[in-house]
Amino acid sequence: MTSDNLTRRGLLQGSAAAAAALPSLGEARAAPRRQPPSSKGEPMAAVELTVNGRDVHLQIDTRTTLLDALREHLHLTGTKKGCDHGQCGACTVIVEGRRINSCLTLAVMHEGDSITTIEGLGTPEKLHPMQRAFITHDGYQCGYCTPGQICSAVAMLDELDAGIPSHVTDDLEKVDLSDAELRERMSGNICRCAAYPNIIAAIRDVAGEKA
Ligand code: FES
Ligand code: FES
Repeated sequence: MTSDNLTRRGLLQGSAAAAAALPSLGEARAAPRRQPPSSKGEPMAAVELTVNGRDVHLQIDTRTTLLDALREHLHLTGTKKGCDHGQCGACTVIVEGRRINSCLTLAVMHEGDSITTIEGLGTPEKLHPMQRAFITHDGYQCGYCTPGQICSAVAMLDELDAGIPSHVTDDLEKVDLSDAELRERMSGNICRCAAYPNIIAAIRDVAGEKA
Protein backbone atom coordinates (compact mmCIF):
# COMPACT_ATOMS: atom_id res chain seq x y z
CA MET A 1 0.00 0.00 0.00
CA THR A 2 1.48 3.39 -0.91
CA SER A 3 1.43 6.38 1.42
CA ASP A 4 -0.24 8.42 -1.41
CA ASN A 5 -3.43 6.42 -1.46
CA LEU A 6 -3.41 5.45 2.24
CA THR A 7 -5.73 8.24 3.34
CA ARG A 8 -7.29 8.67 6.75
CA ARG A 9 -10.77 8.59 5.16
CA GLY A 10 -9.97 5.42 3.23
CA LEU A 11 -8.66 3.70 6.33
CA LEU A 12 -11.77 4.61 8.29
CA GLN A 13 -14.05 3.38 5.50
CA GLY A 14 -12.15 0.11 5.23
CA SER A 15 -12.23 -0.43 8.99
CA ALA A 16 -15.93 0.37 9.19
CA ALA A 17 -16.74 -2.12 6.43
CA ALA A 18 -14.67 -4.82 8.11
CA ALA A 19 -16.24 -4.11 11.51
CA ALA A 20 -19.73 -4.26 10.04
CA ALA A 21 -19.02 -7.76 8.76
CA LEU A 22 -17.98 -9.05 12.18
CA PRO A 23 -20.29 -9.92 15.05
CA SER A 24 -20.18 -7.46 17.90
CA LEU A 25 -18.13 -8.68 20.86
CA GLY A 26 -21.01 -7.85 23.19
CA GLU A 27 -23.60 -9.55 20.98
CA ALA A 28 -25.69 -11.99 23.00
CA ARG A 29 -25.65 -15.48 21.55
CA ALA A 30 -28.07 -18.27 22.33
CA ALA A 31 -26.50 -21.03 24.39
CA PRO A 32 -26.91 -24.72 23.56
CA ARG A 33 -28.83 -26.68 26.20
CA ARG A 34 -26.81 -29.14 28.23
CA GLN A 35 -28.17 -32.67 28.29
CA PRO A 36 -27.40 -35.62 30.57
CA PRO A 37 -24.18 -37.41 29.55
CA SER A 38 -24.46 -40.29 27.09
CA SER A 39 -24.30 -43.91 28.25
CA LYS A 40 -20.56 -43.73 27.50
CA GLY A 41 -20.21 -40.63 29.70
CA GLU A 42 -19.85 -38.21 26.77
CA PRO A 43 -20.87 -34.60 27.56
CA MET A 44 -24.01 -33.94 25.51
CA ALA A 45 -25.94 -30.85 24.39
CA ALA A 46 -28.99 -30.05 22.28
CA VAL A 47 -28.21 -27.70 19.38
CA GLU A 48 -30.52 -26.05 16.88
CA LEU A 49 -29.14 -24.92 13.55
CA THR A 50 -30.59 -23.80 10.23
CA VAL A 51 -28.69 -25.71 7.56
CA ASN A 52 -29.38 -24.85 3.92
CA GLY A 53 -32.69 -23.30 4.97
CA ARG A 54 -33.83 -26.30 6.99
CA ASP A 55 -34.13 -26.24 10.80
CA VAL A 56 -32.25 -29.13 12.38
CA HIS A 57 -32.10 -30.29 15.99
CA LEU A 58 -29.09 -32.26 17.13
CA GLN A 59 -28.19 -34.04 20.35
CA ILE A 60 -24.43 -34.18 20.16
CA ASP A 61 -21.25 -34.57 22.12
CA THR A 62 -20.26 -31.00 22.99
CA ARG A 63 -16.79 -31.68 21.51
CA THR A 64 -18.18 -32.29 17.99
CA THR A 65 -16.82 -29.90 15.37
CA LEU A 66 -19.23 -28.20 13.03
CA LEU A 67 -17.57 -30.18 10.21
CA ASP A 68 -18.32 -33.52 11.88
CA ALA A 69 -21.86 -32.40 12.76
CA LEU A 70 -22.49 -31.66 9.08
CA ARG A 71 -20.84 -34.80 7.72
CA GLU A 72 -21.48 -37.44 10.36
CA HIS A 73 -24.78 -36.30 11.88
CA LEU A 74 -26.53 -34.55 8.97
CA HIS A 75 -24.86 -36.63 6.23
CA LEU A 76 -23.98 -33.52 4.23
CA THR A 77 -20.74 -34.98 2.91
CA GLY A 78 -20.19 -32.30 0.27
CA THR A 79 -18.16 -30.40 2.87
CA LYS A 80 -14.76 -32.12 2.91
CA LYS A 81 -12.31 -32.97 5.67
CA GLY A 82 -8.78 -32.38 4.43
CA CYS A 83 -6.36 -31.50 7.22
CA ASP A 84 -8.90 -31.17 10.08
CA HIS A 85 -6.84 -28.37 11.61
CA GLY A 86 -7.44 -25.19 9.68
CA GLN A 87 -4.79 -25.37 7.00
CA CYS A 88 -6.46 -26.44 3.75
CA GLY A 89 -9.90 -24.80 3.51
CA ALA A 90 -11.61 -27.98 2.22
CA CYS A 91 -14.15 -27.67 5.05
CA THR A 92 -15.19 -24.06 4.27
CA VAL A 93 -18.89 -23.31 4.81
CA ILE A 94 -20.81 -20.05 5.07
CA VAL A 95 -22.12 -19.22 8.56
CA GLU A 96 -24.29 -16.14 8.98
CA GLY A 97 -22.90 -14.84 5.68
CA ARG A 98 -19.23 -15.36 6.58
CA ARG A 99 -16.93 -18.12 5.36
CA ILE A 100 -15.31 -20.19 8.08
CA ASN A 101 -13.32 -23.38 8.44
CA SER A 102 -15.88 -25.75 9.93
CA CYS A 103 -13.12 -28.00 11.34
CA LEU A 104 -12.00 -25.20 13.65
CA THR A 105 -15.27 -24.55 15.40
CA LEU A 106 -17.59 -26.59 17.60
CA ALA A 107 -21.18 -27.15 16.54
CA VAL A 108 -22.41 -26.03 19.98
CA MET A 109 -20.93 -22.58 19.28
CA HIS A 110 -23.45 -22.07 16.47
CA GLU A 111 -26.76 -22.40 18.27
CA GLY A 112 -29.38 -20.63 16.13
CA ASP A 113 -26.95 -19.89 13.28
CA SER A 114 -27.79 -20.14 9.61
CA ILE A 115 -25.30 -22.33 7.74
CA THR A 116 -24.90 -22.81 4.00
CA THR A 117 -22.94 -25.75 2.61
CA ILE A 118 -22.19 -26.64 -0.99
CA GLU A 119 -25.46 -28.62 -1.07
CA GLY A 120 -27.39 -25.45 -0.21
CA LEU A 121 -25.84 -23.20 -2.84
CA GLY A 122 -27.42 -24.90 -5.81
CA THR A 123 -28.69 -28.19 -7.15
CA PRO A 124 -27.60 -30.22 -10.21
CA GLU A 125 -30.73 -28.88 -11.97
CA LYS A 126 -30.22 -25.29 -10.81
CA LEU A 127 -26.56 -24.60 -10.20
CA HIS A 128 -25.30 -21.53 -8.35
CA PRO A 129 -23.45 -19.24 -10.82
CA MET A 130 -20.17 -20.06 -9.05
CA GLN A 131 -20.77 -23.80 -9.44
CA ARG A 132 -21.54 -23.29 -13.14
CA ALA A 133 -18.43 -21.15 -13.62
CA PHE A 134 -16.19 -23.80 -12.00
CA ILE A 135 -17.53 -26.33 -14.52
CA THR A 136 -17.17 -23.94 -17.46
CA HIS A 137 -13.57 -23.07 -16.55
CA ASP A 138 -12.48 -26.55 -15.40
CA GLY A 139 -11.79 -25.15 -11.93
CA TYR A 140 -10.95 -28.57 -10.51
CA GLN A 141 -9.30 -31.90 -11.22
CA CYS A 142 -9.92 -34.40 -8.40
CA GLY A 143 -12.60 -32.10 -6.95
CA TYR A 144 -11.75 -32.67 -3.29
CA CYS A 145 -11.08 -29.01 -2.55
CA THR A 146 -13.89 -27.78 -4.80
CA PRO A 147 -16.84 -27.46 -2.35
CA GLY A 148 -14.64 -25.40 -0.04
CA GLN A 149 -13.29 -23.33 -2.93
CA ILE A 150 -16.81 -22.55 -4.16
CA CYS A 151 -18.24 -21.65 -0.73
CA SER A 152 -15.18 -19.52 -0.06
CA ALA A 153 -15.42 -17.77 -3.44
CA VAL A 154 -19.13 -16.95 -2.97
CA ALA A 155 -18.56 -15.36 0.45
CA MET A 156 -15.36 -13.69 -0.75
CA LEU A 157 -17.20 -11.79 -3.51
CA ASP A 158 -19.63 -10.52 -0.86
CA GLU A 159 -16.60 -9.28 1.13
CA LEU A 160 -15.40 -7.45 -2.00
CA ASP A 161 -18.86 -5.93 -2.47
CA ALA A 162 -18.75 -4.71 1.12
CA GLY A 163 -15.41 -2.98 0.40
CA ILE A 164 -13.51 -5.03 2.96
CA PRO A 165 -9.77 -4.66 2.24
CA SER A 166 -7.18 -7.46 2.22
CA HIS A 167 -3.44 -7.45 2.92
CA VAL A 168 -2.72 -6.59 -0.73
CA THR A 169 -5.36 -3.88 -1.22
CA ASP A 170 -3.66 -0.76 -2.61
CA ASP A 171 -6.54 1.68 -2.56
CA LEU A 172 -8.79 1.35 0.46
CA GLU A 173 -11.43 3.50 -1.22
CA LYS A 174 -11.83 1.14 -4.16
CA VAL A 175 -11.10 -2.55 -3.74
CA ASP A 176 -10.30 -3.85 -7.22
CA LEU A 177 -10.50 -7.29 -8.77
CA SER A 178 -6.83 -7.81 -9.57
CA ASP A 179 -5.48 -11.35 -9.73
CA ALA A 180 -3.31 -10.52 -6.71
CA GLU A 181 -6.41 -9.49 -4.77
CA LEU A 182 -8.33 -12.63 -5.70
CA ARG A 183 -5.38 -14.94 -4.99
CA GLU A 184 -4.74 -13.33 -1.61
CA ARG A 185 -8.39 -13.66 -0.62
CA MET A 186 -8.53 -17.29 -1.73
CA SER A 187 -5.19 -18.20 -0.16
CA GLY A 188 -6.89 -20.12 2.64
CA ASN A 189 -8.14 -22.69 0.14
CA ILE A 190 -5.42 -25.07 -0.99
CA CYS A 191 -5.72 -27.13 -4.19
CA ARG A 192 -3.23 -29.98 -4.39
CA CYS A 193 -4.14 -30.44 -8.08
CA ALA A 194 -3.06 -26.80 -8.62
CA ALA A 195 -6.17 -25.76 -10.53
CA TYR A 196 -5.54 -22.19 -9.37
CA PRO A 197 -5.55 -20.38 -12.78
CA ASN A 198 -8.90 -21.97 -13.66
CA ILE A 199 -10.33 -21.22 -10.21
CA ILE A 200 -9.39 -17.56 -10.59
CA ALA A 201 -10.92 -17.53 -14.10
CA ALA A 202 -14.18 -18.95 -12.71
CA ILE A 203 -14.33 -16.40 -9.89
CA ARG A 204 -13.51 -13.55 -12.28
CA ASP A 205 -16.32 -14.73 -14.55
CA VAL A 206 -18.90 -14.56 -11.72
CA ALA A 207 -17.51 -11.27 -10.42
CA GLY A 208 -17.94 -9.82 -13.93
CA GLU A 209 -21.55 -11.03 -14.10
CA LYS A 210 -22.28 -9.50 -10.70
CA ALA A 211 -20.73 -6.19 -11.75
FE1 FES B 1 -10.65 -27.65 7.77
FE2 FES B 1 -8.51 -28.40 6.35
S1 FES B 1 -10.25 -29.58 6.93
S2 FES B 1 -9.06 -26.38 7.05
FE1 FES C 1 -7.91 -31.68 -6.54
FE2 FES C 1 -8.26 -29.11 -5.85
S1 FES C 1 -9.12 -30.16 -7.56
S2 FES C 1 -7.34 -30.69 -4.70
